[in-house]
Amino acid sequence: MRLVLLGAPGAGKGTQGALIAERRGFPRIVTGELLRAAVREGTELGRQAARYMDAGELVPDDVILGLIREVLTGESDADEGFVLDGFPRTLAQAKALHPLLRGLDHELDAVAVIDVPEDVLIKRLTGRRTCSRCGKIYNIYFDPPAVLDECDVCGGELTQRKDDDPATVRRRLEVYREQTEPLIEYYRTTGTPVVTVDGNRSIASVEDSIERALAS
Ligand code: AP5
Repeated sequence: MRLVLLGAPGAGKGTQGALIAERRGFPRIVTGELLRAAVREGTELGRQAARYMDAGELVPDDVILGLIREVLTGESDADEGFVLDGFPRTLAQAKALHPLLRGLDHELDAVAVIDVPEDVLIKRLTGRRTCSRCGKIYNIYFDPPAVLDECDVCGGELTQRKDDDPATVRRRLEVYREQTEPLIEYYRTTGTPVVTVDGNRSIASVEDSIERALAS
């Protein structure tokens, strides 16, 4: 199964992508995480990407396409399937993905859209905290840790993403509506199966809906 997860910032792509990938033993390719790692390591890519990410804007297509090409061609486990989370995000990226996958003898099997109302998205993003040690994601409103700012699993410190402040969140949501949401219609016209699930329910219910939609 080669799957693209689509949804606004905060829709739960990271949460569900991790569950799907773990259950199926697939690699999960998350452009946002790859970019954040490059920023942390201070690479040239990270320096280029940081100013766009901090402003809630998209990193330019040529930069992202270079990154995704490198990851997909170097990902030896991807032959059985993969989950793409955060890519594609523009029409140009979606159009470039087809020949890239064809060159690797792969094809996209499905696109899963996670739909969540905007007021919920804002709470999810501004309330999100991530463990700096093991990467587990919490939410201070919906899924708080037992001890404030401390990971339940490994005791690591919980931190807030730089782009999760309210003003940047508003811009990220605008960018999603303008540049990424049109991909839903694009995939419908290309014949790739598109399933939409209501993401405003418990993590387990959303997971169950995605699995059932993909199986049908
Ligand atoms: P990226 O890291 O991809 O961020 P995003 O799309 O804005 O998505 P998020 O990670 O914020 O949300 P999510 O949908 O994964 O939700 P999550 O599961 O974490 O991108 C960051 C930046 O990188 C972009 O702004 C851009 O600059 C750049 N970038 C990345 N890819 C790019 C590309 N292809 N092209 C150009 N630029 C690119 O959940 C959020 C919160 O909600 C958590 O606290 C979680 O616990 C909670 N939650 C999740 N599900 C539920 C639920 N069912 N009920 C209650 N709470 C829930």
